[in-house]
Amino acid sequence: MTARVRILPSRHEFTAEGNDTILDAALRSGLALDYGCSNGNCGLCKAHVVSGETSKLRPHDYRITEAEKTANTVLMCSYGPVSDLVLEALEAHGTRDIPRQKVATRVRSKEQLTEDILLLRLQTPRTQRLRFLAGQSVTLSTNGAAREYPIASCPCDDRNLEFHVRRTNEPFSEHVFGRVRCNDVVNLEGPRGDFVLDESSKRPLLFLGYDTGFAPVKSLIEHAMALDTAESLNLYWAARTDGGHYLRNLCRSWCDALDKFHCALLTGAPDDPGLLQPLAREQPSLAACDVYVAGPHEFVLASEMFLLEHGLPQAQLRTSRVE
Ligand code: FES
Repeated sequence: MTARVRILPSRHEFTAEGNDTILDAALRSGLALDYGCSNGNCGLCKAHVVSGETSKLRPHDYRITEAEKTANTVLMCSYGPVSDLVLEALEAHGTRDIPRQKVATRVRSKEQLTEDILLLRLQTPRTQRLRFLAGQSVTLSTNGAAREYPIASCPCDDRNLEFHVRRTNEPFSEHVFGRVRCNDVVNLEGPRGDFVLDESSKRPLLFLGYDTGFAPVKSLIEHAMALDTAESLNLYWAARTDGGHYLRNLCRSWCDALDKFHCALLTGAPDDPGLLQPLAREQPSLAACDVYVAGPHEFVLASEMFLLEHGLPQAQLRTSRVE
């Protein structure tokens, strides 16, 4: 069956199918509900059922007291809806509501996308997923080497995390390109950063990424797609060379799947004054958008100057340096 779930007090709504737990269905819809272990141990995902029926889908060790049972308390990671539901539950409303976490992940795969870019897929244990907001970063460490990377995947797939690792002569990059194998442990600490979506805004969204600045932009776009509230999504991905758009097929598939998605691939130096000219032609209502820019320092600076000169209010601009 398909059940409609409404969360109070936010009035956010989502659907749950078949054997979905309430938590899994909410995460897939882009909601940031409070939770911890996702495994029935911590009690952080407690919610109060205002109306509707639930059933227990997974056993849980956390003990719900008699008083909580009388108040219709359920664990969202263990229960699923069997009818439409209204629930009172806590949600994260910003980065301050997300705790700092340490997780020992395993390498699920590594895929070389170009000579210099590697797609590293990590998986968290089933009992300790990573809570984060789209666009945030974490520190990865292995074999004594550590580096901060933006998460390139969406919080809706919180066990499976993606990172776009550039080949450099830093120890972490050298180790990942050279010696890391499937199932190796990579420690993760975070999340950090406030390069996150303003979910209260319904304005069209414009994303500018340069090289691996595409990583946090991809996370934001996938999250915006899960929320499905923005009027339109527009991506401008710039790279030094044509081969630098290392996931161009993914961009094409977004364009094919969504009428309201527009994508352009740009080529040039990060501070090339002509690089962003297509925006001025193609986005006449730039000032009416929320704009997210990620890339190296020169690109962020040049983009900020260009956007403000074209009438974008500073409050509608969020930036992230990705070197
Ligand atoms: S998230 Fe820990 S009990 Fe549900």
